[in-house]
Order: sequence, then structure tokens, then C-alpha cells
Amino acid sequence: LHVVVLMGGWSSEREVSLMSGKGVAAALRTRGWTSVTEVDMDRNVARVLEELRPDIVFNALHGHPGEDGTVQGMLDLMGIAYTHSGLSTSAIAIDKELTKLLLVPAGVRMPQGTMVRSESLFERDPIPRPYVLKPVNEGSSVGVAIIHEGGNHGSPIGRGTPGPWNDFDELLAEPFIKGRELTVAVLGDEALCVTELKPKADFYDFAAKYTDGLTEHVCPAEVPEDITQAMLDMALLAHRALGCKGASRSDFRWDDEQGEAGLYLLEVNTQPGMTPLSLVPEQAKQRGIPYGELVERIIAEALA
Ligand code: DAL
Ligand code: MG
Repeated sequence: LHVVVLMGGWSSEREVSLMSGKGVAAALRTRGWTSVTEVDMDRNVARVLEELRPDIVFNALHGHPGEDGTVQGMLDLMGIAYTHSGLSTSAIAIDKELTKLLLVPAGVRMPQGTMVRSESLFERDPIPRPYVLKPVNEGSSVGVAIIHEGGNHGSPIGRGTPGPWNDFDELLAEPFIKGRELTVAVLGDEALCVTELKPKADFYDFAAKYTDGLTEHVCPAEVPEDITQAMLDMALLAHRALGCKGASRSDFRWDDEQGEAGLYLLEVNTQPGMTPLSLVPEQAKQRGIPYGELVERIIAEALA
């Protein structure tokens, strides 16, 4: 079986994807797969794949255009099987507001968001502080800022104040949910575990995600049994409602003073990271599934 591991590309998460892809390719080789080709995606990707004609593409891309349905549509047209979610699931899940339109009616609690033009931030706060500003369709906390009470950026955010909001025309503003940061991976049709992320500084931002030692991972999380169960249930419900395939990862905030009513799903990642510090591999390992077997299971689901 010839596997192409598709990685890299030109999104803001290019480097993360290269780490994911190299990890996947190395694991396949260790497990005796002989025909593994690593492809760093560029604009010629269709021609490259047409020449290689793999039996399966392992999609290790993050962000645009590998996580938003574009690459999925290309592979559909070319008749090449691929791992993880398909076109429509990817296109919905990459957009944090579209995701809510689907999941909130399905019974998943998510924060009420407001889309704002970034220049309007210089006039007034879009919602009461504290709130989170984020691009609607990026990953790895790229472009995310927490605007604190009274706070860190003056009121309102001054024109010319340096900050990630300057890089985007439109942003999603959501109430900041105090408390704890948690995540659940779904593999196949099973929610694996709850991990709590305890960043040493500030919040679980890009550096905290990918620098060893900057975030403590507690897996399984030390939270009450009913909260654990509620998170596992919500992650599985979200995975099914969106029609995710292979693996997904749902990220949560939990205001632990509110009990189960304080539990919010923030987003579903359809191309969750596969780097050495990533959470899906960590949860799989906790459940007795080593990294290489995880990769093979994702491939097996795509070929089934
Ligand atoms: N967006 C990163 C890769 C993740 O969700 O793991
Ligand atoms: Mg994400």
C-alpha cells in the first residue's frame, strides 16, 4: 500500500503540520510500511499526486487549505482516498461560528459569539469584558487575544495598539469563560479521555502548545466523574453531528464554579495535531494505543 503523507503547505500552522507529518511518516516506517512518501504541499500538489497515485493520502495538514475542505474536494475529484473528515465536515468545522449553527441545536453548549470588524474595536468593546478575540477560522490559537477587565489594552483597544487583531479584518468575540482548559479526542467512534491543560503563563497560546515544558498536561484530568462524562458525551455528539472521520479533538472551557452548566465546547478540530506534544496521541497512549497504531487506525478507517 502506497501512502502519501501530505503536510506543510502555506497556512499559519505550516511548521506544526510538518511536525505532525514527519511523526506520522516515521511511525509508519517503524511499523514496517515500505512505501511512504512525504509531500510538502505546494500549488502543484494535484500534479504531484497524479504522478504518485497513492492508495491513500494521510492528511497531516492544519489550517488552510488542508483543513477547510479545499484539499478534500481536490482528492474527491481525483478519486484518491484520504484520512480524516471529508469536504463538507471540514468546511463547517474550520469556521467556529458555522460550527455553532450546527452543534448548538444538537444540544452542545457553546459560547455565544459575535462577529466584529476589527476596526470597530477601536471605538468600543463589542461585548462586555472579559472577552476573547479570535479569527473565526485559524488553529493553534493563532491570532487569539484575551481582553481583560479594565485591562491590558486600555478601553477601548487603542488604534495602533499592537495586537493580533490588527492582522484580521473580521474577528469573533466570545465571552471569556474563566476556569479550566480541557480537551477530548475522538478516535473512530469513541471518545478517548479528558486532558486538562495547565499553561505555566498566560493562556494556552501557540508557544504554550508547542514548547516542551510550558504547559502541564493532566491526563486523565482531575475533574468530577459527571463532568468527565459530560465532556466525553459532548465530544462524541459533536464528532457525530459534524460527520467527522478518523480523529477529531474537541476543546472545552469549564467554569468549575458553575458545575455542568459551566461547561462549554469551544470548537472541534478535524485535523488535530500529531506532534510529539499533541493531545490526540497522548490520549491514545493513555488508552493503550501507541502512536504508530493510532496512525494505522486512522488509515484503516479511511480505507474501510
Ligand atoms: N490546530 C492544531 C494542529 C490542533 O488542533 O491540534
Ligand atoms: Mg483549533
